[in-house]
Amino acid sequence: MSTTPTREKRPPARHVVARVDEIAPGASKLVHVEGRDIAVFNVAGEFMAIANRCPHEGADLCKGKLTSLFESDEPGVVKMSRHGELVRCPWHGWEFDLRSGKSWCDPARTRVKSYDVAVEHGARLVEGTYRAEVFKISVDDEYVVLEL
Ligand code: FES
Repeated sequence: MSTTPTREKRPPARHVVARVDEIAPGASKLVHVEGRDIAVFNVAGEFMAIANRCPHEGADLCKGKLTSLFESDEPGVVKMSRHGELVRCPWHGWEFDLRSGKSWCDPARTRVKSYDVAVEHGARLVEGTYRAEVFKISVDDEYVVLEL
């Protein structure tokens, strides 16, 4: 019987990528973490992140417009929900769910990677094992933290 060496799983690293007030509601910021381009969005005060590259032809999803979910069960009646939780690709309009990364029209096969995002106080960050390569942390501010 042969044994296959198991790869040791490293604990997720937490990266401080922005001050909360840097990304206004409805806006986004492109960040570079561990060699990846990641689009971070502020959806009405909640932060969400997906890989920046559209799987169709590679557009920057951070430049896409936030939109909502529109559904219809009958002609002339449209329901809108999940306000601003989808991003529309700026090139050809494919839409991606910011929570799951799944595309709206083909969720089983087409998706972008989504990332866990948290908001942390500076006072907590200076004590923890966070990585903040880009800027200095102030204990008075709040920060957007990505987990990879
Ligand atoms: S590049 Fe995104 S929809 Fe075409």
